[in-house]
Amino acid sequence: MPSSEIYPHLSKVDRSMRSGVKNHLPVVLWLTGLSGSGKSTIANQLEYELVTKYNAHTYLLDGDNIRTGLNSDLGFSDEDRQENIRRIGEVAKLMFDAGLIVITAFISPFSTDRLFVRKLLPPGCFWEVFISCPIEICQQRDPKGLYKKALTGNLMQFTGISSPYEAPQYPELTIQSNILSLDESVSTIIAELKSKKIIH
Ligand code: ADX
Repeated sequence: MPSSEIYPHLSKVDRSMRSGVKNHLPVVLWLTGLSGSGKSTIANQLEYELVTKYNAHTYLLDGDNIRTGLNSDLGFSDEDRQENIRRIGEVAKLMFDAGLIVITAFISPFSTDRLFVRKLLPPGCFWEVFISCPIEICQQRDPKGLYKKALTGNLMQFTGISSPYEAPQYPELTIQSNILSLDESVSTIIAELKSKKIIH
């Protein structure tokens, strides 16, 4: 159906009404970084603390989980990664509209794809959180054995080895996961959420 024949309509309950019933503001915390940098681990602990200590309404969208469901038809070509991030961005936007604190953990290697998601959201509501870790450390960790496979030619288009990772130039937050402990990483993000009055 051509888009000229689609007529989106506004709902009676808008975003501010939905978020008004919660004790925090909605935001999208977009974690980006190499495989093995600690995105999922930090995202998980962050969500746990937001729920248990701040009574926040959250949702965690994580690479490996989404790729077994919503995006199970996508691979790791540049085009598929772009589509992966586009769909996740749209889902994150819906959850943001519902008033949630949305945490995402995807490599999201391309700056233009992250910029696409940023533009879906109101200014200040998309936080690019760079989980920074030298690739040598990610390779040593290699929790899934994927770097080993990529380096021996048994896994193609692997980020950092045979596919690029474009580090954020102006992230809202940088977490140096090879220097900070898990607790310190999570506390840094929570402190920023407090200082921007997203949570109390
Ligand atoms: S993204 O590049 O499209 O953002 P995404 O975060 O969804 O990637 O998925 C990354 C996860 O897929 C990795 O943590 C890893 O477990 C798995 N994976 C499998 N093949 C690849 C590959 N070629 N490059 C990167 N990750 C891969």
